[in-house]
Amino acid sequence: MPPSRWSVQSTQTRRGAETPVKDFFISYTTADKAWAEWIAWHLEEAGYSTVVQACHARTAGTGAESGRPPITIAPRRAYVVATAAPPVVRLSGLLEELSRAGWTSCVIATPTAAAWIDTRQFEAATGFPVRVHPRLPDEQDPLPPADAIVAAPLTFNTLNKSAAGMSDTLALGLLNEALGLQLPIVAAPVVKAALRRHPAYGASIATLRACGVHMLDPDAIAIRLPDGTLTLDWKAVVDELE
Ligand SMILES: Cc1cc2nc3c(=O)[nH]c(=O)nc-3n(C[C@H](O)[C@H](O)[C@H](O)COP(=O)(O)O)c2cc1C
Repeated sequence: MPPSRWSVQSTQTRRGAETPVKDFFISYTTADKAWAEWIAWHLEEAGYSTVVQACHARTAGTGAESGRPPITIAPRRAYVVATAAPPVVRLSGLLEELSRAGWTSCVIATPTAAAWIDTRQFEAATGFPVRVHPRLPDEQDPLPPADAIVAAPLTFNTLNKSAAGMSDTLALGLLNEALGLQLPIVAAPVVKAALRRHPAYGASIATLRACGVHMLDPDAIAIRLPDGTLTLDWKAVVDELE
């Protein structure tokens, strides 16, 4: 079954139309190509015509050309706010789990996290640029809006700054804005025991929870790999978006 998070953004029917137009225009990003084709196949089976195109492609041949509004079916989109804790080097696991659950992802990394990861790898996986720095005032936002935020891994530094309302990285700015917009936010802190005893930690967790952030238990999601490195149970993180 396709994920339940696909949204039909506008609807119209071509029944009775004289000029051949497409019934459904299905756009997708790289990670969701298979879902888009799956949906197209079922629609064609049901007697509709479809156009399946990559998200940034032109809409030639769609209903839009004939002046009719095309039907666009798009998956819900998660912003992955990635900060500089060791699991960030295995972030592809999170992107895979999000895709499996029917989410399109855009990665926003803190400057420190960006230095730890291969941003081109994540751009290829998501179809969107990895954002690190704020855009210039006259630049368009290169990312489409988010339906939800997954802050993972989330450092002591960034979670305390978010609770305090600081926005000195793009990642913090988007996270803080999402709080105000009351978007669903799942946060996966990766913080060692000594720092969890710092007075700011408990207060920040309580503040963010009170704002509706779904703050996961670091011990419940951390996985120590045989080589000693730390990763997260990415599926458990994504399951919390349900
Ligand atoms: C090897 C290494 C491992 C780190 N692990 C963690 C960690 O697990 N959790 C954490 O909160 N900070 C960790 N830090 C510290 C953060 O990277 C540091 O506080 C950084 O400024 C966080 O920046 P950011 O929150 O903007 O990504 C680690 C640093 C290094 C060099």
